[in-house]
Amino acid sequence: MGKWNRFDYPDHCLVARSTVIHKTAVIGPDSMSIKVDEKQKKLIQFEHQGGICINEDVRIGPLSVIHRATLEGKETVIKSGTHIGTMVNIGHNSVIGHDCVIVSGTNIGGSVQIGDDVWIGMDVSIKPHVKICSHAVIGIGSVVINDIDKSGVYVGNPARYIRERGEGKPL
Ligand SMILES: CC(C)(COP(=O)(O)OP(=O)(O)OC[C@H]1O[C@@H](n2cnc3c(N)ncnc32)[C@H](O)[C@@H]1OP(=O)(O)O)[C@@H](O)C(=O)NCCC(=O)NCCS
Repeated sequence: MGKWNRFDYPDHCLVARSTVIHKTAVIGPDSMSIKVDEKQKKLIQFEHQGGICINEDVRIGPLSVIHRATLEGKETVIKSGTHIGTMVNIGHNSVIGHDCVIVSGTNIGGSVQIGDDVWIGMDVSIKPHVKICSHAVIGIGSVVINDIDKSGVYVGNPARYIRERGEGKPL
C-alpha cells in the first residue's frame, strides 16, 4: 500500500491483507447521490453510511476510486483476484466478481453486478443497476445500458453481442 492512499471513512473499509492498492487510489468516498431539497431550494448530497469489502489478491491501480455503499449494513464488494487498472470508477453498492479485469478509464455506475472472469476494456461505461454475467468481455469504449446474460464479446454503444469469447487472453 502506498503513502498516498486515501481511505475515506476507514471504519467502513474492509481490505484483505494480500490486496495491493496503488498510490493515489481512493477507497471509500460517497458516490454522487444528489437530490433536490424543496425546502432549501438547493441540491443536496445523500450522505452514505455503508461500507466496502475488498477481498484477497485484488489490485487497484492509481487514481481509481471505489465508492462506499449507501446504507448501513450494505457494501460495495470487489471479490478476490480481480485486477482494476488506472482511473477506474466504481459506484456505490456495486459487486465485482472474482478474477475480473477492468482496464483503465472505465466507469461503473452504482448497484452494478458483475459476475466472475469478466474482462472490461478501456473507457467502458456501465449504466447503474446493470447486471453482467460471468465470462463476458466488453470492448474498448463500449456503453453497457442493458443486462448481459449470455457470455461472449460485446462492443459499441449500446453494447451488442459480436461473438463467442475465445481461449486465452480475451482482450
Ligand atoms: C472487443 C474486441 C476484443 C473485439 O476484437 P475482435 O474480435 O478482433 O473484433 P474485430 O476487430 O474483428 O471487430 C468485429 C466487429 O466489431 C466491431 N468492434 C470491435 N471492437 C469494437 C469496439 N470496441 N467498439 C465498437 N465496435 C467494435 C468492429 O468494427 C467490427 O464490426 P463490423 O463487423 O461491423 O466490421 C476488441 O475490439 C477490443 O475492444 N479490445 C479491447 C482492447 C483493450 O481495451 N485492451 C486493454 C489493453 S490494456
